Amino acid sequence: MDLQLVDVSVGYGAVRALDEVTLGIGKGEVVAVMGPNGAGKSTVLKAVMGLVPVVAGHVYWRQGLLVAATHEIVKKGIAFVPQGRRVFTHLTIRENLEMGCLYLADREEKERRMDSVMELFPILYEKRRDLASQMSGGQQQMLALGRGLMADPELLLLDEPTLGLAPIVVKEVFQKVAEINENLNTSILVVEHNIKGVLSLTDRASVLDKGKVVHHGSPQSILETDILTEVFLGRVSPEEEEA
Ligand SMILES: Nc1ncnc2c1ncn2[C@@H]1O[C@H](COP(=O)(O)OP(=O)(O)O)[C@@H](O)[C@H]1O
Ligand SMILES: [Mg+2]
Repeated sequence: MDLQLVDVSVGYGAVRALDEVTLGIGKGEVVAVMGPNGAGKSTVLKAVMGLVPVVAGHVYWRQGLLVAATHEIVKKGIAFVPQGRRVFTHLTIRENLEMGCLYLADREEKERRMDSVMELFPILYEKRRDLASQMSGGQQQMLALGRGLMADPELLLLDEPTLGLAPIVVKEVFQKVAEINENLNTSILVVEHNIKGVLSLTDRASVLDKGKVVHHGSPQSILETDILTEVFLGRVSPEEEEA
């Protein structure tokens, strides 16, 4: 395993968001994290990035213990594309991409990465001088992915990359994710609510419910059991109750 969480617990004050979560991803793999709202999926990714208090357990990256400030973790080869895209709307596409490797002093290397990202996403090249606010949701997601790739990561953490996008755009995002994995051999740990779409991409998946891993296995094993029905339909999360 390249990245390994072992018995990781995360607490937001009194709220135990993750309870002894163990999961891992090997080099070049695509692994999905699934589960209902509030299950702790985003918290898994944030725990890796050092963005939430890990109160017990350990995160390992290539055999070593991963304990560092978030920007150091990015330098170690892990990039995070958060939920909701979070592009800088008042900056141009090019400037947004530059934000992905601010720490990098080597201008040539920066340009090389910029070229390779724009080659992968022609729309970003086409609109490179436009403000991000002028882009559609799907284009902003491509920009968020591109910004993640500017760190030249070995592992990309993606949080709900297709949320709120039209079906045709969802397909496009999944295609790009597959392309990144195949062409760049980037490992991808992805949180997704689109079960069918994501299971077609992944080698393995973990299902979370209330901060615990309740199933782990191949896409086939997940579809064959009732686990998703149980966690998605069996218990209604508070957020859904309010809706
Ligand atoms: N900043 C926070 N402060 C307090 N509780 C939080 C915070 N962020 C998330 N939580 C809680 O932690 C749990 C897991 O959240 P999250 O990882 O965002 O779930 P998911 O991504 O699966 O929807 C939820 O119960 C949520 O309400
Ligand atoms: Mg989330």
